[in-house]
Amino acid sequence: MSQLNTSNARQRRRRSLLWSFVLILALSLGLPSLGYVLAQSGGGQGVQQQQQQRLQQQQRFGEDRASNPRSDMWRDAREGQGGFTTQTGPYVTNTLISNVGENWRQFRMGPLITYGGYLLIGALVLVALVFTIRGRIRIEPGRAGMTIQRWTGFERFVHWFTAISFVLLAITGLSLLFGRTVLIPVIGHQAFAAWADVGKTVHNYVGPAFSVALLLMIVMWVRHNIPRKVDIAWFKAGGGIFSKQHASAGKFNGGEKIWFWVGVFTFGIAVSVSGFLLNFPFFEQTRETMALSQAAHAIFSILWIGFFFGHAYIGTLGTEGALEGMTTGQVDVNWAKQHHDLWYEDEIAKGAKPQPAAEGKAAAGVGTVGQPSH
Ligand code: HEM
Repeated sequence: MSQLNTSNARQRRRRSLLWSFVLILALSLGLPSLGYVLAQSGGGQGVQQQQQQRLQQQQRFGEDRASNPRSDMWRDAREGQGGFTTQTGPYVTNTLISNVGENWRQFRMGPLITYGGYLLIGALVLVALVFTIRGRIRIEPGRAGMTIQRWTGFERFVHWFTAISFVLLAITGLSLLFGRTVLIPVIGHQAFAAWADVGKTVHNYVGPAFSVALLLMIVMWVRHNIPRKVDIAWFKAGGGIFSKQHASAGKFNGGEKIWFWVGVFTFGIAVSVSGFLLNFPFFEQTRETMALSQAAHAIFSILWIGFFFGHAYIGTLGTEGALEGMTTGQVDVNWAKQHHDLWYEDEIAKGAKPQPAAEGKAAAGVGTVGQPSH
């Protein structure tokens, strides 16, 4: 009796196993098909929609590109269609794919690097040409051996702070921009990575200090840079560089005013504002704003560096006696009369007294030591 019970129980277990197996098989095959059946009957709207979408895609992109629904989806995403992402913040919210970065990358690696490079090399060639053709502008009657104060200690401090930080920013900025094309082939990837790291840090810290000094420089010198009639006459006389005519000027001549308004003021503000937006991304700047800032920062910096080559050349090799003004504060009286006669007359009228040139300075470069001729 007990044997009969045991064999019945075994049979029942086998049957229930068999039915379970059949049920699982039926469900695993049947359930997915249910979606298909639903789509074909009541839920057919979805399929119709898809077909309609496909038709629209075919009309827009042609048969071949509309054939893959996945590529249609990515195409939509690339076109900036809103979606939902897990990201929050101003940069990426609800944007599946942003083309901004790729557009900026293509601009940077293409026209920016190519034409930027040409511009910088062109500026250097121009400076070399001017030096070859015109040579150094000498103090015509030779040195007077008497000097007059041109720049105060504060003016020189602001100027050299700005100049040194500008050079640091230019070297590090250009290294980051042209590193891949110019430096990596020469020093290799590892050395460039180390240098780029240092360069980026220096650039990020020196930038804000430079902008503050630049602002001081603008406030300090703006009153001397108001355009005057004499500036037009200065340009007509070729600035005394390209003609034998004497070019009259106040404290700043026409050329220096161009450097002030175009270089220091316009490029300076553009580079500082765009640099600030890049350095401090806490103001809900969008990706577009960041990419535009990068483009503006690079374009204005390159233009400014090209312009700066001209300024640095004129202040050193190009003009005898100019650099010592910015290092010692004093300029030779004959230099002052030749380059900034109206300013010199003003200073004398205000009671400035020319002093004999310092012994060391006289020994270093005095040509003709004459008497003060005012
Ligand atoms: C390191 C390179 C530089 C050198 C050798 C240099 C040299 C000079 C010299 C000699 C002067 C006096 C000119 C005069 O007495 O009329 C001067 C003036 C001036 N510098 Fe520089 N400088 C340099 C960089 C800069 C930079 C980077 C800026 C601005 C960002 C700048 C802005 C000015 C301004 C606004 C003046 C006033 C007069 C003028 O426009 O020439 N300098 N510089």
